Amino acid sequence: MAFYSALAESIDAYTGLSPVAFFTIVALMVGVYFLVSGFFVYPEDEAASKSSPPPPQQQAPPPEPFVPPEPVQVGDITLEELQAYNGSDPKKPLLMAIKGQVYDVSIGRLFYGPGGAYSFFAGRETSRALALMSFDPRDLNSDLEDLNEAELEVLHDWEEKFKEKYVKVGQIVSEKSKDGNEDENSKQIKENLE
Ligand code: HEM
Ligand SMILES: *[C@@H]1O[C@H](CO)[C@@H](O)[C@H](O)[C@H]1NC(C)=O
Repeated sequence: MAFYSALAESIDAYTGLSPVAFFTIVALMVGVYFLVSGFFVYPEDEAASKSSPPPPQQQAPPPEPFVPPEPVQVGDITLEELQAYNGSDPKKPLLMAIKGQVYDVSIGRLFYGPGGAYSFFAGRETSRALALMSFDPRDLNSDLEDLNEAELEVLHDWEEKFKEKYVKVGQIVSEKSKDGNEDENSKQIKENLE
């Protein structure tokens, strides 16, 4: 009892509290410490302490990544035929032309596929639009005559990027040279005969 009365005296001397009040306050502080530190438990610690051993988990199979088919060469193609590859037919690749060279941009379908930010480029000759950094549909052509050096340089950079990233699968031909060396006139005659 001598120990207890000495303890009670020193608690009173240092804190001015009765032993009961002192130990109540200490107990509350300890409680608050554990309560507050419990907020900062790492999630993995919590999971580990709650579930040991971990319950057998049903792993969902990972989603199949979309793999576009290998680029197929289309060879000579007219602007009109190129339109068929604008993304409206999901079975066809996405093609896009720069300076008459046709690239398969199917791996960039997030850009050029339906709903993509640049879907209007698909199935089109895009040289002028890229050179001018233009979204105007009237610039979807290969007309470069009035462009300045800087604009042609921009186009060149785009072309380099596409050569590097995509597979070239063909080249634009004008209607008349599509089949052999026919000129527009003889083709027209042939069409009239069909
Ligand atoms: C508001 C201005 C623009 C912004 C913020 C922008 C942003 C972007 C971004 C973030 C990408 C993705 C790059 C990557 O992940 O590789 C991209 C790609 C592209 N941008 Fe833009 N862009 C802008 C204007 C234009 C304009 C004016 C053109 C041409 C007319 C253009 C043509 C392209 C093309 C062709 C690609 C795709 C390149 C590829 O196939 O890898 N962009 N753009
Ligand atoms: C794609 O081209 C086809 C013709 O081949 C046309 O009917 C369709 O409207 C075009 N779609 C887009 C998104 O331009």
